Amino acid sequence: MGAVIVRAPVAADRAALLEALERCGAFSALEVEIAIGMIDEALAGDYSVVGVEVDGVLRGYTLLGRATLTERSWYLYWICVHPAYERRGLAQALQRAADDLVQAAGGDKIVLETSGRSGYARSRAFYERAGFAETGRIRDFYAAGDDCIIYCKTLPT
Ligand SMILES: CC(C)(COP(=O)(O)OP(=O)(O)OC[C@H]1O[C@@H](n2cnc3c(N)ncnc32)[C@H](O)[C@@H]1OP(=O)(O)O)[C@@H](O)C(=O)NCCC(=O)NCCS
Repeated sequence: MGAVIVRAPVAADRAALLEALERCGAFSALEVEIAIGMIDEALAGDYSVVGVEVDGVLRGYTLLGRATLTERSWYLYWICVHPAYERRGLAQALQRAADDLVQAAGGDKIVLETSGRSGYARSRAFYERAGFAETGRIRDFYAAGDDCIIYCKTLPT
């Protein structure tokens, strides 16, 4: 694997990020549509987004935003790495950058929701490795048998 650069995505990276979303195998067509829409909003400044580039092409990103009406909490809305580049530490690099971004903005908590379905096992393994802990679970939230798991990570202040 070539040089890894963590940087802010620009409009020219949109196609590469769409490819990562479509190919990662985790998201339905509707989820991909929502995710790319949020990337467009982030490029317009409505969310924070961090990308990871390998050999000149963005191969993953994470997208966050302040939790409205909280003092220091942020939501992590999306993280995705292109399947050809999985298990090489790219998501860890993204998470470190996201933690730094939140801390630099005065935040100290990152919260996310994910599915309890077996297809999301790698995501949960990643979050737990990245320092998130399960803080809540809503049974049958997405559908019967598909729980919503709430993860939270508290950053050092
Ligand atoms: C989850 C995801 C972002 C992880 O990206 P990644 O770049 O492969 O992750 P990393 O290489 O940084 O892995 C860091 C750690 O997470 C855990 N992990 C990551 N992928 C895993 C897998 N498939 N199985 C088990 N543990 C996994 C491991 O502890 C890993 O450390 P290790 O490789 O030293 O054992 C990636 O698999 C992905 O994009 N999945 C599809 C999209 C998705 O589900 N996003 C989250 C919901 S929005």
